[in-house]
Amino acid sequence: MPGLETEVWGYNGVFPGPTIESRSGRKIVVRQANDLPVPVSTHLHGGRTPPHSDGYPTDLIMPKKGHDRLTGGHGSMDMGGSPRFKDYVYPLEQRAATLWYHDHRMDFSGPQVWRGLAGFHIIRDEEEDALPLPKGEKDIPLMICDRSFDRDGSFLYPSLDPTLESKPGVEDDYMDGTLGDVILVNGVPWPFMEVSNTRYRFRILNASNARRYELALEPGKAPFIQIGSDGGLLGAPILHRTLPVAQAERFDVVIDFSKYDIGDEVTLKNRMGEGRTEDVMRFRVTRREKDDSTVPRRLSDMAEFDELEESSANRTRAFRFTRVGDEGKTMWGINGEPFDPGRMAARPALGSTEVWQVKAAPASHPVHLHLVHFKVLSRNDGEPLPTDAGWKDTVGLSSGEEARVLVRFEGYRGRYVFHCHNLEHEDMMMMANFEVT
Ligand code: C2O
Ligand code: CU
Repeated sequence: MPGLETEVWGYNGVFPGPTIESRSGRKIVVRQANDLPVPVSTHLHGGRTPPHSDGYPTDLIMPKKGHDRLTGGHGSMDMGGSPRFKDYVYPLEQRAATLWYHDHRMDFSGPQVWRGLAGFHIIRDEEEDALPLPKGEKDIPLMICDRSFDRDGSFLYPSLDPTLESKPGVEDDYMDGTLGDVILVNGVPWPFMEVSNTRYRFRILNASNARRYELALEPGKAPFIQIGSDGGLLGAPILHRTLPVAQAERFDVVIDFSKYDIGDEVTLKNRMGEGRTEDVMRFRVTRREKDDSTVPRRLSDMAEFDELEESSANRTRAFRFTRVGDEGKTMWGINGEPFDPGRMAARPALGSTEVWQVKAAPASHPVHLHLVHFKVLSRNDGEPLPTDAGWKDTVGLSSGEEARVLVRFEGYRGRYVFHCHNLEHEDMMMMANFEVT
């Protein structure tokens, strides 16, 4: 905030963390060393990652000192002998896509991400390189998240235990999730950006703990030209006037500022906000420039995707995301159960395809599966939304909504989680395991 300093818990000390750019099919190793006073686990969201490097909630990198004081919260932690660093191996055998990495520590992901543990990871490939889309300085990731600040500029979060050492959870008023009153884009409150009257590509990520957005441009002379979703490029572009963006979802869009006049100011609004959270950021069209970019009618050879039919599914499973009681305390759970690392909710076979029917109540829940990508088949027994297009790893559900998604279990055998990406719900146990067998 202007005139104030904020201490962050950052990857390499910065927030957002460094943007990792990698190539499809080229394995990389990221060594994470933990200098924080608490355990961490890093998940690459959207990554097709072997289980040992996926950032399982109890697969912790322990802190430097004082870890004997830590207790495990809801889960069991291995207190003895865990190393202080971990090499995460990412084979990246997947298409070009906008991924992000963030903390996934059992019971404490909400406060740890809030303090800054999140960054982009962009995978590129030849198919995408060959397209005439806006590139270089006109290919811009936008990490949107809300935060609250104390008077001294420090992040404000309603933890029961602000040291994040032992007691997990938030004050009762925040059971539904923690909302901030300041909107940050790439760590800057309500930023301005000068643009020329040309096309720009924005990789929009909602990295908020609990806030959902409905983005719109004002004045709305140009639409959002969606070119990609969580899992990479769409087959063909889709135009949207508004973009509902649930937590952890990514929308890869092109905005054509030639639709505006030089001198115009264009505000990226949040139609779901109130007061100052109605604004996200502002563009100023300041100059004329030649534009070599275009958005081709055909973006990607999605034949594989188009061919994947519901009839190819080996089985159907149903998961209800609801409130549950755990020892008299209200918690969140899936099919009536709070998270238990030892319980397996599903054992799909490697290479199989399944229909997962996911239902949200009595709050909205963004449903996220690790490892896999899926296609939204229906919402509330009707057609999916235009913004549900493409390969997804997260689907946003409003309270009472239900979606059917077609999931392809590809990649690796082993144990993974699926969960609500409202991080307070996740910390309050709205998570379950699946094991690819
Ligand atoms: Cu962003 Cu378990 O995920
Ligand atoms: Cu939820």
